[in-house]
Amino acid sequence: MATHIKNIAQNHLGNVAIIMDGNGRWAKKNALKISKGHEKGVSVVKEIVEESINQKVKSLTLYAFSTENWGRPTQEINAIKNLIVNAINDQVPELVEQNVQLKFFGNFELFGKKIINKIEYAESSTKSKNPSLKLNIALGYGGQQDIISIVKSVSKGVLDGEIDINKISDKTIKDFSCVPEPSIDLLIRTGGDKRVSNFLLYQIAYSEICFLDNFWPDFTRLEYKNCINQYKTVSRRFGKRV
Ligand code: IPE
Ligand code: IPE
Ligand code: MG
Repeated sequence: MATHIKNIAQNHLGNVAIIMDGNGRWAKKNALKISKGHEKGVSVVKEIVEESINQKVKSLTLYAFSTENWGRPTQEINAIKNLIVNAINDQVPELVEQNVQLKFFGNFELFGKKIINKIEYAESSTKSKNPSLKLNIALGYGGQQDIISIVKSVSKGVLDGEIDINKISDKTIKDFSCVPEPSIDLLIRTGGDKRVSNFLLYQIAYSEICFLDNFWPDFTRLEYKNCINQYKTVSRRFGKRV
């Protein structure tokens, strides 16, 4: 007897990005200091990294601190700085074991020498030819600022005669961007707001987007898996008639 198995085409999962929002409101809800919300947020990252490896995600790009976040109180910024140092110290050995390659991008020089040194240590310790996952952390990053910087670099290249103006392409923009991934397949934002807050403006041109109500410290593996499963079955048309 012939059996009819319907093949359901699934989208290949490559590059995932997450706007990890809601740490402050989570802390408030639990009558804790804001820094505790950020602390809990870091522990969720650990789980989501694990699940990304399980799901064979190629890269995970996380929004840790935006250009606009410099407008927050000094006390909160200092707590975040300490958290970054502690997270690198605690998690790098495990990331090495998991063969996860860590990369930071954005204008993180503004965080000071101590953090720059830690980032250098984290990136050099986790370098891998064939990583199980590329983990990219946006730190002091803004999409508009990246575009401005790209325009300046490309303009300079044209003025210096190194770039032919007629050959400027999508690839040129991506090559000059500080963002490690050329495009994002799936963008997730927790915390209930439906906006992109200056994240990866160029790279999310054709991303599937998942907005979730849960605050980032309450984000679960199951919710993450649900987003991925939803992504896999959606019809991605890229403007074409299919
Ligand atoms: C996201 O959580 C983390 C950072 C921006 C560093 P928030 O701190 O923005 O949390 P809410 O949005 O105030 O709840
Ligand atoms: C986006 O969250 C930035 C990060 C998650 C790092 P914000 O809390 O800074 O964004 P807005 O202010 O709600 O747009
Ligand atoms: Mg927020």
